[in-house]
Formats: sequence, C-alpha cells, structure tokens
Amino acid sequence: MPSFRSSMTERGWPQDVGIIAIEVYFPSQCVDQQQLESFDGVSQGKYTIGLGQTKMGFCSDREDINSLCLTALSRLMEKSQAGYENIGRLEVGTETIIDKSKSVKSVLMQLFEESGNTDIEGIDTTNACYGGTAALINAVNWVESSAWDGRYAVVVCGDIAVYASGAARPTGGAGAVAMLVGPHASLVMERGVRSSHMAHVYDFYKPDLSSEYPTVDGKLSIQCYLSSLDNCYSTYSRKFACIKEASSPPMSLSQFDAMLFHSPFCKLVQKSLARLAFNDFLNTPKEELTQKYTGLEAYREKKLEDTYFDRDVEKAFMTNSTEQFNQKTKPSLLLATQVGNMYTPSLYGGLVSLIAQSTVESLSGSRVGMFSYGSGLAATLFSLKGSLDRGPDSALAKLIASQADLQCRLKARTEIQPDVFAQTMKLREETHHKAPYIPVGDTKVLFPGTWYLTHVDDLHRRLYERHSLSTSNVATKAVDVAYTKEASISLPNASNPLSSLPQPVLSNSSQQ
Ligand code: HMG
Repeated sequence: MPSFRSSMTERGWPQDVGIIAIEVYFPSQCVDQQQLESFDGVSQGKYTIGLGQTKMGFCSDREDINSLCLTALSRLMEKSQAGYENIGRLEVGTETIIDKSKSVKSVLMQLFEESGNTDIEGIDTTNACYGGTAALINAVNWVESSAWDGRYAVVVCGDIAVYASGAARPTGGAGAVAMLVGPHASLVMERGVRSSHMAHVYDFYKPDLSSEYPTVDGKLSIQCYLSSLDNCYSTYSRKFACIKEASSPPMSLSQFDAMLFHSPFCKLVQKSLARLAFNDFLNTPKEELTQKYTGLEAYREKKLEDTYFDRDVEKAFMTNSTEQFNQKTKPSLLLATQVGNMYTPSLYGGLVSLIAQSTVESLSGSRVGMFSYGSGLAATLFSLKGSLDRGPDSALAKLIASQADLQCRLKARTEIQPDVFAQTMKLREETHHKAPYIPVGDTKVLFPGTWYLTHVDDLHRRLYERHSLSTSNVATKAVDVAYTKEASISLPNASNPLSSLPQPVLSNSSQQ
C-alpha cells in the first residue's frame, strides 16, 4: 500500500479550501427590545433605533456552552451527513468558560463515540469574540498543510453573551455555529490577503472567574473595534494590491459583493461600513475626487485616528454609504438584530443570514469580506469567494437550501416578558458554577434536537440529554421539519471532497 503522504503528493494538495456546510443554533426564547426599553426605563428607541436591536435570544439554566455546541455540531453532522468517522480535526472557539481545564472540544467527543473515531486533532481557542475565527483559520490551515490526512475539519463556535443589568445588557445574545471545512468548498477562503491586527487593551475582559459577566469599557471597546477595522482594511488593501491582476482596480468597497462584520449591535456595523467608505474616500487620488465624491471636500484633511467619535464624519459617510450598506451588509444582520451578539459565532451568524437570503447566482463568484473582532484585542479581515460551480446539485446550491428555514425558525421562538428575562438572568447569576445542581428551566420550550443540562453532580461533572427530534410543543412544532432526516442536506456526490481523496489515514495506521 503506498504511503498516505506519497499518494497525497501524487494527487496534489487540496484546492479551494473553505466552508462546505454551516449550521446555526440560537435559543428558542427571546425578549423584545422595545419591551425591554420600557422595562429598563430608558427612552423609547434607545435599544431599537440607537443600537439597532429587535430581539435578544437568551438561555435558561438548562443550557450552557457545552450544550449549545453539542446542539450545533449534532445538527451540522445530521444535515450534512458528513459522517463522524470522516472528521480529522475539531476546533472550538468560545469565551464562555465553565471549566479552566476541560475543553468544550473534549465534551463534544461524546458525539463521536459510536463511530469509534478518536483520532481528531484540535482543541479550544479563547480570546473574546475572536476564538471562532482563530478556530476557522486553524482548520483551514490544517487542510492546507502537510499534516492533512484527507478528512474534513469541523469548527464549532458558541457563546452565551450576558451582561449585568445596565447599559450593556441589551447587547447580549447567545448561540452557536458549526462549520464543515474542506477542499472544493462552497465558500473558499481567499489566499494571500488575510490581515490581522492584535494589541494589548483592556476594553472588555472577564477577570472574575466566578461570574458570567464581563468588565466593559463600552466607549473604549468601540474605539478599539473601529481602529482594528482601519488597521485590517489598510493591510488587506496592501496585500490585495500584490495579488490582484494588473488591470483590476485597487482595493475599495466595490471589490466586495458583501461585507460582513462581527456584530456587537447592529448600529455599530452600519457605522463600520461607513468607516470603510471613509477609508476609501481618504485613499482616493486627488485627481479622482471630484468625479467620485461631491460635498465631502471638508473631510479630506481628517485623520482616521482623530475621528472615532467625530459625529460629522460619521453622519456624512453613513449617508454616503447608505446604498452600499443596504446591498452589501444589511442582509447579514438578520440574526444579529433578532438574536443579538452571539460573541464568537456573531460573524458566522452573519454569514448564515447572508446565505439564507442569497441565490446561487448572487453568491457564485462573489467576494464576501469578513471582519472579525474580539476584545482584548484580536482582529482579522479575510474574504470568502463563492464557488463557481452553480449547478442545481452543486455544493453552493445545497448550502443555500440548507438555510431556507432560517426565518421560520426565528419566528417559532417563544417571546418572554422582560421581567421573566430579568429573573432568568438572576437565576443564572445565582446558580452559575453551583454544584451539585439540578436546573429548573422548562425543557419543553426547547427546539427539537436541543441538547440540555440535566444536572451537575457534587464533583462538578455535567450531564446532558437531547430533546426529542420531534415534539408536540406548539411553539416549536413549526421547526420540526428542519430537524428531521427528510430535511437533511447531503453533500453533493460529484464534489464531495472525500469521494476524490485518499481514505482517511486512520484505516492505514490502524493496520500497522
Ligand atoms: P450606552 O450608554 O447605552 O450608550 O451604551 P449611548 O447612551 O451612547 O446610546 C447608544 C446609542 O443610542 C447612541 O447612538 C445614542 O444616541 C442612541 P449614537 O449616537 O452612538 O449613534 N440613543 C437613541 N437613539 C434613538 N432613540 C433614543 C435614543 N437614546 C439613545 N431614545 C454601549 C452603549 C454599546 C457602549 C453599551 O451597550 C455597551 O457597553 N455594550 C457592550 C460593549 C460593546 O458592545 N462594544 C462594542 C465593540 S467591542 C466588541 O464588539 C467586542 C464584544 O463583542 C465582546 C467580545 O469581543 O467578546 C462586545
């Protein structure tokens, strides 16, 4: 039998590595932001117009980071039918730490038990909202590396974003995203342009290990986010100039068909798109200015670093970029406005939102800009290219079909009154890290197929069960179909990476 490495070399290294399939999970309970404004006694419009939020998803004591990730991964594996035995790397990104030693990845390994597959690299990565992106980069790097053995990688990112009562509370949320990564992907990670900005700042951090709540300097966090965006865009533009064809124009927003951002709250995302338009304006050669812009001359002398809270600049470029925002960014904010900040999955929830509202024609060949930000801080701007294979059985067509139920799932949630939401937050505060503990949250309200915590024993060991895949609960019944086998999305045979790749190394090495 030829060695795995030599057979891989004969076949060539993997091409078009990126996201093949994606699944999102968000809680079945949410609170309305308008009602929250009244309950919190703030002026009407502050959360809905000022922050751009509509609803906020939240979890009872029945869900924790392990259960969220178990649910997202189970759904991905069922819908993609990738097969647990075909996974060679599993990466988790999260900032919701419930154990200082035991990883979420190790908890997820219980899903692989039946397959007998324990040869799975990868572990948890943490830095605020950035962990999911670090996990994705690790997964892509593995597939593109000499260590790759021909199997898929999976990335799971999840978080429960909760804040103490006060100004930050309406910017919470919760959820998890799982992604199948491999060659011949539907959304290919572009090479040579990925750009990062990393620095040491205390803008948002979680020094109190006994609490779920962060310590936040809201204003500083916004400045850090915007300056990271400026930095990443500048570096991405420089790298783009090196790889672009000589005849194509330099980097500007027009190079992106869609531009997605980590979304702590939707208003900041609209301001971020405007920020890129301001960058483009400052980068425009003097001789082209009058042809491209009118009425903005006064801002030409402005400097990026002096304008993070410059209302005039913000207003002028939000107006200037309205059409671009509506076209390139607004569709990606569906989950962000309806669920809130999911932390590590936020950017990937944006991707799911975009996919759910795309057609094969609109996504094929398009460039999707992805800006990831995690406080502390770590930021990366990268881009995905939609596959050119646009047939009805193509991976891209299947990816889009797999998200057709998104709106239906959002509508099937149960809306909870703000006082009950506040009580739930209080319960989480009081019982976080309690052992032994038996959760009291109602499991009947959970979506079908949701994993939940049954109890924590006196040694802090957590036990989980899965809610039935079909339910008689009226509220969640509407989404039953999305969780059943009939709705599963099989990977396209023609472009299934595994069909054209060497057998997983597991079968070779286990025979030695
Ligand atoms: P705040 O005190 O509510 O701020 O805190 P505000 O008083 O400035 O109000 C917010 C906006 O509402 C303002 O809009 C007001 O004018 C407007 P702006 O002028 O800035 O455009 N407003 C109204 N609009 C319409 N009708 C009204 C009304 N009243 C006021 N009646 C803040 C807001 C975001 C700072 C707070 O919620 C917070 O600290 N959140 C958490 C931190 C955060 O989200 N930071 C974002 C960047 S950092 C990041 O993204 C990382 C993160 O995801 C964590 C991680 O990485 O893990 C957070």
